[in-house]
Amino acid sequence: MEDKLKNVKSILKKYNQEHLLNFYDEISNEEKEILINQLLNIDFEKITKLYINSNKNENLSNTVISPLPHIEKDKLTKEDLSYYTKLGEAIIKNNQIAIVTMAGGQGTRLGYKGPKGTYMLNLKPIKKSLFQIIAENIIETNNKYHTIIPWYIMTSEENDKQTEEFFKLNNFFGYPKEKVKFFKQSKLPLINTDGKLILQEPYLVKEASNGNGNVFNSMQKSGIIDELENQQIKWISFGGIDNVLLKNLDPLFLGLVICNNMEIGSKSIFKKEPLEKTAVYCKKDGKPSILDYDDITLELSESKIVNTDTYLYREANMLSHIMSIEAIKKVKDIELKYHRAFKKNAFVNFEGVKQVPDKPNTFKFENFIFDAFSYFDDMLLLRVNENEEFAPIKDFVSIYNPDTAIEKYENYRIAKESSI
Ligand code: UTP
Repeated sequence: MEDKLKNVKSILKKYNQEHLLNFYDEISNEEKEILINQLLNIDFEKITKLYINSNKNENLSNTVISPLPHIEKDKLTKEDLSYYTKLGEAIIKNNQIAIVTMAGGQGTRLGYKGPKGTYMLNLKPIKKSLFQIIAENIIETNNKYHTIIPWYIMTSEENDKQTEEFFKLNNFFGYPKEKVKFFKQSKLPLINTDGKLILQEPYLVKEASNGNGNVFNSMQKSGIIDELENQQIKWISFGGIDNVLLKNLDPLFLGLVICNNMEIGSKSIFKKEPLEKTAVYCKKDGKPSILDYDDITLELSESKIVNTDTYLYREANMLSHIMSIEAIKKVKDIELKYHRAFKKNAFVNFEGVKQVPDKPNTFKFENFIFDAFSYFDDMLLLRVNENEEFAPIKDFVSIYNPDTAIEKYENYRIAKESSI
């Protein structure tokens, strides 16, 4: 232990993080061991580099930006809809697709304690958790196609235990247990505006999940990619936890991806306001990518295909993707770039008192799933109707709050039932 402590002290000195041992003399022996082992496992070089590099903006001056063409669902003919849907349905019926729900986020904007998927939505006549809404949506597909789709749920170190317990407590919402698997994503320490790591407890450094783009690497590490291949699964549908209208599996979308010989597909929604703070799909140097809202000028946002009403840069990401297993294998070992997010996280201050900030105080470094797409030459982009497929819950102040999600969810259910 003494050797380990010596080692830790020299690492902390090198990276200017000595405050992490501030309470070392006051904590129990068991806690000392937890802290020392954690510190020995943190990659200080990586987090320091991420912090320093994140202060530099991405320089796009030498990057060629071009549009990523999209298909609009509303413009497909009845024949097209039926043709592509049948193609996708065949894959589902042949058990060649699995679903991955990315639920490893912290949900800091919602400020809800516990995994975001356990957040209860005040629906009538009964409240439902976000996990239940997703489970019901997949069960509907299972029933329609007389199959049981393997369902994988990505959790984080922070929320894994609670997530699994919630599923057990709710009897997996009626989903066959043997078809549900949880896997944990990786984590990184958080860092404050002074470049210091923070303590969550006097004996514990605060670490958090490193973004939904870590999904491929985590699938690989957990043996899921091999497992999928052994089951002859060819396609994976990826989605988040907080969009209550997400179609976790859409045969039309799948059929379109396959028919267009693509390995990747994403759904988009139309960005209504040209300067809204939303990133959009594009190509950067000819590869599928996302254009951050800071890089979007009014001119770019207003540009259209000549002599048409079709905008070139208005397709917003809605975290709904399909990828072939081959595509996943191609990116599973790549370290995607990191983005810096500024988030609210409680910390132990210098007096040893837990402080809950009322505004963002820490940087979190995250990989985003869409950054994997730039390793491919092309992808399919399908614009869908926001009222039918996009009602995320992010916080209580923006339009993406629980009340608007409930309204959209209920309106959609009513419209669906009346169309049957
Ligand atoms: P968000 O970007 O909305 O992040 O995640 P968040 O962590 O849920 O919430 P905030 O930003 O702290 O308020 C979009 C989706 O990606 C998942 C989330 O669980 C959500 O389904 N995600 C996010 C992960 O699976 N892992 C992560 O590290 C981050």
